[in-house]
Amino acid sequence: MIDFKHVTKTYKNGTKALNDVSLHIDKGEFVFILGASGAGKSTFLKTLMREELPTSGSVKVNGIDLISIKPRKIPYFRRTLGIVFQDFRLIPTMTVYDNVAFAMYCTGARAKEISRRVAYALSLVGLSQKARNYPNELSGGEQQRVALARALVNKAEIIIADEPTGNIDPEMSREIVDLLNHLNKNNGTTIVMVTHEHELIKQYNKRVITIKDGCVVSDTAHPEIAAGMQNNGEVNVASSAGFYHPPVEKVEIENFLQSYGSADDQFADISDGAELAGSNGADLRSSGVSDASASNKKVSD
Ligand SMILES: Nc1ncnc2c1ncn2[C@@H]1O[C@H](COP(=O)(O)OP(=O)(O)OP(=O)(O)O)[C@@H](O)[C@H]1O
Ligand SMILES: [Mg+2]
Repeated sequence: MIDFKHVTKTYKNGTKALNDVSLHIDKGEFVFILGASGAGKSTFLKTLMREELPTSGSVKVNGIDLISIKPRKIPYFRRTLGIVFQDFRLIPTMTVYDNVAFAMYCTGARAKEISRRVAYALSLVGLSQKARNYPNELSGGEQQRVALARALVNKAEIIIADEPTGNIDPEMSREIVDLLNHLNKNNGTTIVMVTHEHELIKQYNKRVITIKDGCVVSDTAHPEIAAGMQNNGEVNVASSAGFYHPPVEKVEIENFLQSYGSADDQFADISDGAELAGSNGADLRSSGVSDASASNKKVSD
């Protein structure tokens, strides 16, 4: 699903942020990307979402070659990804509901579909009651959960999260990772989460890829090894010889549509969602945001 071969990224100023990175992530995996500040974690994610083009090497995601992809196809490719950032990046002038609905609206989804799926996404992150609130009326953890709802509302096959717990307290952090875990286990969503929090990683038994100075220095199923290695600065050279591939977990792949279908009855508290989505769509159109790819960019930037 995600395939990096000998990827090197040197920025214009000469900084080599990725140095011969080769790794493979299978569909349905949950992978932590661990590393100190400046190690190259975000650069890795940016090449994965084709925000940055590698200097050399090959990157394939979902069978799409991100080196040769035509620029006009990039927005469509990005729609297969759900992206969550450390700083949430919600639109402050929109309600919680509209922030999530807008992500779907940008893909050209119909109002009825939007209302069903937004209701489901908000219920999944436990924010049905806050649908009408604005981002500045929410806690950091709640804002991050809105960002997560926005990332999953389009049924993304891969969720890419760049330090999603960086701005929230440990308890909330666990909730966010638990939510990602839930999506991974129940919907088969592939999760790639960047963090530098060893303590958080230790609480989950997941594959951990450690990046140091642009190189993958460890790829292991044992978080305590990765965390320990980070602490004493040693490099696990054994792992670089053959990358670890855990067996794909036997997950029950739940059909998103089925789940969304049941959301209508369960979340009557925002049952006027269709109306909201309709008016939201009209507002957006009248404000000149009509081009799907342009508006998609606005959301994902
Ligand atoms: N656009 C850019 N131009 C030049 N250098 C950059 C650019 N973006 C990142 N870098 C450099 O590349 C290296 C890797 O940066 P990156 O943002 O990938 O690190 P990171 O592991 O995500 O760090 P952090 O944990 O602080 O977010 C750093 O030395 C950084 O200064
Ligand atoms: Mg970063």
